[in-house]
Amino acid sequence: MSLPQKEEKKDFVQEKFSSVTEKYDFLNSLLSFGIDHLWRRSTIKTLSGVTGPVLDLCAGTLPLTRELFRQGHRYIVALDFCFDMLKFGVEKNKDKELINSLRAVCGDGENLPLKENSFSGFTVAFGIRNLSDLPKGFSEVFRILKPGGKGAILEFSRPTFFPFKILYFFYLQRILPQIGGLISGDKEAYRYLAESIKGFYSQKEVCQMLKDTGFIDITYRPMTLGIVTLYQCQKPL
Ligand SMILES: C[S@@+](CC[C@H](N)C(=O)[O-])C[C@H]1O[C@@H](n2cnc3c(N)ncnc32)[C@H](O)[C@@H]1O
Repeated sequence: MSLPQKEEKKDFVQEKFSSVTEKYDFLNSLLSFGIDHLWRRSTIKTLSGVTGPVLDLCAGTLPLTRELFRQGHRYIVALDFCFDMLKFGVEKNKDKELINSLRAVCGDGENLPLKENSFSGFTVAFGIRNLSDLPKGFSEVFRILKPGGKGAILEFSRPTFFPFKILYFFYLQRILPQIGGLISGDKEAYRYLAESIKGFYSQKEVCQMLKDTGFIDITYRPMTLGIVTLYQCQKPL
């Protein structure tokens, strides 16, 4: 499968997430053997000193938003350009306090309908790989952050540890599209998942892009043998 580029990628990504919306959370947990909850928990922990508004970019069905709320954040904007994912996430949440702490916005992460210097933090889980123009996405979150604002980015990466790497890629390319396709009804969406992980930037390239955007204090931490990586960054004061 060849990966779509630019505007074509936007349409493709929107359509694919719409088609898997109802099974998205279940499949996330199943295909990651439940570890995705721990990854999200670690991501939000890095924003523990942040008290003001936080943007959850590419929020999807709101799993990271829920974790932000669970860890005490009460001013959350959850943004995604796939209306079906957001709607499903909002409707599934029965907690009144969470709903009151949340503004769900259907919009483009590469052209944020948000004011500059207005957020104390931003976070994104499994979203940056899906953007068609990653430097543009980074420049947008930089713009809306207040000086000193912090970012936490969780994204898939590629394990480098030899025997594990072979097993992982076998799982990614052969098993995951079969299970994902069977349960969601859209095998192509899970083939895209595998291909987009294989074709994504290295950790060093992501860090360089954050640096080129203007971020400082950039760090990255591979987790679970490098299946995912947690990046942190800050807008200078
Ligand atoms: C893999 S899901 C991640 C959902 C959620 N953050 C999580 O932790 O599972 C990626 C989401 O990114 C959204 N997305 C991709 N490109 C986007 C863009 N340019 N602007 C806004 N949302 C985008 C998709 O619609 C999808 O809901």
